[in-house]
Formats: sequence, C-alpha cells, structure tokens
Amino acid sequence: MARLVVVSNRVGVPEKGARAGGLEVSIRPALKQRGGIWFGWNGKFSEGDPPPAETVERENVSYVTVGLRQDDYEEFYNGFANRVLWPILHYRLDLAEFTRRDLGGYFRVNEFFAANLEKFLRPDDVVWVHDYHLIPLAKALRERGHKNKIGFFIHIPFPPPEIVTALPNHERLMPALGHYDLVGFQTEVDATNFSRYLANECNLRRIDGDSFEFDGRAVKVGVFPVGVETDAFSRLARRAIESPFVRDVLGSLSGRAMIIGVDRLDYSKGLPERMDAFERFLTIFPEWHDNVTYLQITPFSRSAIPEYADLGRAVGEAVGRINGNFGEASWTPLRYINKAHSRTALAGLYRAARVGLVTPLRDGMNLVAKEFIAAQDADDPGVLVLSRFAGAARECAAALLVNPYDHEGVALAINRALSMPLEERRQRHAVNYKALLHNDLGDWAERFLGALERPPVRTSAPPPMRIAGGR
Ligand code: F6P
Repeated sequence: MARLVVVSNRVGVPEKGARAGGLEVSIRPALKQRGGIWFGWNGKFSEGDPPPAETVERENVSYVTVGLRQDDYEEFYNGFANRVLWPILHYRLDLAEFTRRDLGGYFRVNEFFAANLEKFLRPDDVVWVHDYHLIPLAKALRERGHKNKIGFFIHIPFPPPEIVTALPNHERLMPALGHYDLVGFQTEVDATNFSRYLANECNLRRIDGDSFEFDGRAVKVGVFPVGVETDAFSRLARRAIESPFVRDVLGSLSGRAMIIGVDRLDYSKGLPERMDAFERFLTIFPEWHDNVTYLQITPFSRSAIPEYADLGRAVGEAVGRINGNFGEASWTPLRYINKAHSRTALAGLYRAARVGLVTPLRDGMNLVAKEFIAAQDADDPGVLVLSRFAGAARECAAALLVNPYDHEGVALAINRALSMPLEERRQRHAVNYKALLHNDLGDWAERFLGALERPPVRTSAPPPMRIAGGR
C-alpha cells in the first residue's frame, strides 16, 4: 500500500490538552490506521523567515510542521483564506474583503508549502490535501514535476457558480483544482455546484458521470460526507456523564432541562440569529421560564479578523439583553461560555442535554450535530434541532430541521423538542443513529482513498498543446 501524506493548514500534533477542530478530528484516525506523514502549519509566525520544518514522530505518523512569516500569516491566513474564501464559500459575499495583495500571499504560501513538502515526498506517495487554504497546492507540486496521485477534500461548502464567480480572480484560482486527481465534497449539492463551475466557467468536457477532462488527464468529482466515530463517541459520552465536571453542571441546573449549543465564534454558525430565536421562545412560552437553561459554549476564533470581533460584541450584547430581560435572581436563562472544553466534557454535556441547538446559516457538515446524536441515551434521548443548511441535515434527517433565518420557527422547534413524547424521541434518535453508523468516520478515509487510488477514466482526446502562461 502506498504511503499516505496528508496536508492541511492546521496539523493535529497530539499534545496533552490540545483542542482539535473538526478537520483534525476527522483526519487523525485515518492517518493513525494507515500511518504516514501529516504536513502543515505549526500555528506560529515570525518576523523573518521561519526556521526549517520540524518533525514529531508519534506511533506510525510523522507530524511535519512549518512556521509562517508574519506577512504570510496576515495575507494568506487572516487575509485571503479567512476574509475572502471563507465568507464567499459560506455564501456571504457581503463579508468578503478582497485585495490582490492577500491573493498574492495566498499563492506564495501555497508555493512555500509545496517547496517544503517536496523534501519529504516520494514518487509513489498518495497525497491527500485538505480544505480551502490549499486549493493551488497540487498545481504547485505538478509544476515541480510531481506526478503522485493527489486528492483534495474541502470540508466547507462549495456554493453555486453564480456566487463563486463574484470572487475576483476566481478564474485564476478555481481551475487549479483541475490538477488534483480527485476533488471531494461533503454533499451532493456542493459537488453539483463544482461540476457546474467546471462545465460552465472552465468549459471542461465531462468524460463520464463524475469525471472531467483537464489538460489531457481526468479529474474526478466525488461526495464523501465526513462522519464521526459513532460507537466510540457513544461510549465516551456514557462514561463522561458520570464525571465530576458533568455532575457539577447538572447539579447547578437544579433539575431544569438543558439546551446546549457548541460552536466556534464564527458568523457562519448563526449565533445572533439563534439568540434571537431563544428570546422569542422565552417570549412565546413563559411556561418554560425557570424550567430551562440554555448553555452556549463558544470558544473565540480568528480574533484578529474584524468581522469576528464585531460578532463577539453582538453575541455578548444579546446574551446580556436576554438574561437582563428574562432572568431572575435565582435563574439565568442563558449561560454563555467562551472557554474551549475537552471532547470528553462535551460528550457528557451532550448526553445530559434535552435539546441540541445546531443552527448554522451555512455549514459544510457540522460534526457537533453528529456527536450530539452519538452521545444520546437511546432509551431516553435528547432532541436535535438542526439547520437545514448544515451538510449534516442530509444524514440527520430525523432531527427537527429548521430554517435558521426564521427565528420564530426555531423558537417553535425548541418548544417542540422540549415537549416531545418519549416514543417520538426514541424513534427519531434510532433513525439518526443508524444513519451515522452507516457512514462512520472509519469508512470515510477508506472511501476517499479508494476512489483516489482507483485507475483514472481514460480520456479519449489526445492531450492538448500546452500554452505558455496557461494553466
Ligand atoms: O473546516 C473548517 C475548519 O478547518 C474546521 O475544521 C475547524 O474547526 C476550523 O475550520 C478551524 O479554523 P482555524 O484553523 O482557522 O482556527
């Protein structure tokens, strides 16, 4: 079996107390099982040129990380990746702040990654690149002469071409995805949007149902929804609910039902809208006053970016308003916490909650939704209220699906979830749990790598002549 080389902006180097994001959580088990290299940024930046790459060996995985120069960090990470690609790919054209300087930094860091990665690359390695930070990486490697199988998986949404084409210079960036052998998406909708982009904006010829011809080669488009380790997470939750931490939290509720939300502080998560919906819920259903506590855990994220700082202020104000208007000396309706919690603590809290509120305005998948389901007690499960705009809504169709822009609708769903009879809760949970088992995280990497390593579809046309300066 070929050696696996995973590349992502953040690398999940196993460290005590480290809090991993969705991407790291999904990659780690696959890489551990197969062994190989995980290459990426170490999260540090420096004034001058960063020191050479560092390697940490843990079991059968080599974690190879590099630092970034301060200007690269500003232009690549804070700039193009997170102030242009992130909002646009989450359908938020209104929040995108494009500059040519940041785009230049983005390409420069991808070149830098390619130059450092190739020092470790063998000709028969299979390379798996993750997420929107690294769209041009395969092109940079191909230009250095690497002919490896290279796959790309994007963890976040891919909007319709009508939105993608609003990205200045999209025609310079997006066609670079054609240099991958396989481009994978979370949902059918994302894959269809990308296929439409390839066909309509790049004029690529479709070879068969899911492959396009690019520079005389085939680039395949596939759907690989990320799952969770369902049974393992369920076991973790069963243990964690007995932990002193979760017992303390439960004790502090004095028997009140708990609603839980867990999201990074990010505008894609729909937090102000969710606060609004909770406020409406308290207004419409006074019978729940003093009978329910909503715990919202929201670690800070990308704080150097102004939109995130603005969001922090808006959410803080909403929390203050709700608690001020509805709270009592003996009851705080909304507990808002910015501290990150361990996976174990979250697993226990999910199991203890009556309702999980996951209402992003747009989300590639959302693993909190899946973990909430995995954590429930099948005999007495809590209810998931889930945005129809999260990728997870396809598989978790037995959740109460809501439109996060309809604040009143979400308020009604919260009441329905809290009041749902046991039999209906059991049925919905069983359907969702089965769907999670059907697409367990253990199979996800195998499916992607299987599709990547399968021989490509033969293209019928001869390779086109290369045009100097062309893609
Ligand atoms: O898929 C998006 C993602 O990479 C998540 O996996 C992760 O939780 C988040 O973004 C982390 O963002 P950042 O690396 O900017 O902190």
